[in-house]
Amino acid sequence: MSQSILVRGSIPSDHEAITKLGSEAFGRFGDYREPLTEWLSNPGIETLVVSSNGDLQGFTMIALLEGPEGVPDGCVLAVGVRADLQRSGLGRSLLDAAVARLSAEAVQWGVRRLVASVASDNTPALRLFQAAGFRDVGASGRSYASGEVARRLVRVV
Ligand SMILES: CC(C)(COP(=O)(O)OP(=O)(O)OC[C@H]1O[C@@H](n2cnc3c(N)ncnc32)[C@H](O)[C@@H]1OP(=O)(O)O)[C@@H](O)C(=O)NCCC(=O)NCCS
Repeated sequence: MSQSILVRGSIPSDHEAITKLGSEAFGRFGDYREPLTEWLSNPGIETLVVSSNGDLQGFTMIALLEGPEGVPDGCVLAVGVRADLQRSGLGRSLLDAAVARLSAEAVQWGVRRLVASVASDNTPALRLFQAAGFRDVGASGRSYASGEVARRLVRVV
């Protein structure tokens, strides 16, 4: 995509579209409608979106979560792009914005690393995160409702 992609913070009128897009994008891993609704109402979770003429094209959700030794980790909870718009750079722009936002918090909160979990067979997501500097550090010990094993991805701030 040659045009620059504008990533902005979400507003309440985006929420219904985020829940719909997210439950479609993550549908093969389980039913995400309820978790997405909860995450959107959680003040500790920030959602960034790309939209065009009021139509949601993609979103990412980030948070600072408890990490080892009481130091918070910057966590990318989700990245989802509308199916018909994938492979046009939206995921990369959203993840870059998520990394920038979490990195900006790093000094204040002592964050040393950014983390994410991705299903072991989710090649598009694994490649997306690896291209953004995340390293696959192995199985996280968790699995999705679909049964797929989650892999832990880590990026030093
Ligand atoms: C993962 C996802 C967000 C990628 O979004 P996208 O807008 O298609 O990604 P981009 O076009 O910005 O691609 C960026 C990089 O990701 C990787 N990538 C994206 N889609 C890929 C695919 N189908 N196969 C292989 N690599 C892929 C590539 O490295 C790509 O760089 P390149 O185009 O220079 O090769 C999108 O596929 C999606 O919404 N999937 C469903 C939800 C999901 O699984 N989210 C991740 C877990 S939270």
